[in-house]
Amino acid sequence: MQVAVLGTGNVGMAFADTLSRNGISYIVGSRSVGAHDGDGPKRVSYATAVEKSDIVVLAMPFDGVKEAKQLHELADKVVIDLTNPLTEDFSALTVGHTTSAAEEIQKLIPKSKVVKAFNTVFAQVYGSNAFEKANPPQVFVAGDDEVSVEQVAELTRQIGFEPIKVGELAVARYLEPLAGLNIRLGYFQGWGTEISPAWNR
Ligand SMILES: NC(=O)c1ccc[n+]([C@@H]2O[C@H](COP(=O)([O-])OP(=O)(O)OC[C@H]3O[C@@H](n4cnc5c(N)ncnc54)[C@H](OP(=O)(O)O)[C@@H]3O)[C@@H](O)[C@H]2O)c1
Repeated sequence: MQVAVLGTGNVGMAFADTLSRNGISYIVGSRSVGAHDGDGPKRVSYATAVEKSDIVVLAMPFDGVKEAKQLHELADKVVIDLTNPLTEDFSALTVGHTTSAAEEIQKLIPKSKVVKAFNTVFAQVYGSNAFEKANPPQVFVAGDDEVSVEQVAELTRQIGFEPIKVGELAVARYLEPLAGLNIRLGYFQGWGTEISPAWNR
């Protein structure tokens, strides 16, 4: 199995690093191939990354997904949507109640299997000491295709998180506001960005 991480920002780099630490084969896609001479993994175009992978992680802004011209190349892939459709100042959602970013992305790429996951995980959590605690950080996983959901849940376990399957893709309507709450607590109320939701059954 190979994972493509599309986007080289905070989450993309943290996700790729986590895959690397856990021995998962991955490839990083970027809009700006060749412009990066620094350390870190080699970057290829989005199209090349997608072509070589089974699971694709959209580590980019929701508006970036809408603009991406390569979307058709995602056909038949399992696509992890970790986006949150936020206003520029991160204070509100731009989509909600009767739809979600995840569902809108699924409409853009109807042949793909979109799975909402990791949208409530701050980038800083991936490299934090949260994993040293008895209970690993939790990741909510929602999707319409049961096989894809299980694939994403398994990947989630492999990189040290606890997956919690929460149902069909439309449950993203709850998960995206939950990320908004994270941002409210982490940034606006000063709790910091190493927090992650912990639910007990
Ligand atoms: N930051 C967090 O803690 C966090 C947590 C959970 C979810 N998220 C979600 O994860 C996604 C990425 O967040 P981030 O914090 O990693 O963002 P970021 O640091 O701004 O990076 C976004 C990356 O997406 C790519 N991209 C593609 N189209 C773009 C566009 N139109 N405008 C800007 N960048 C574009 C760029 O990589 P290339 O130029 O290399 O293609 C860019 O580096 C967002 O949807 C966010 O809501 C973030």
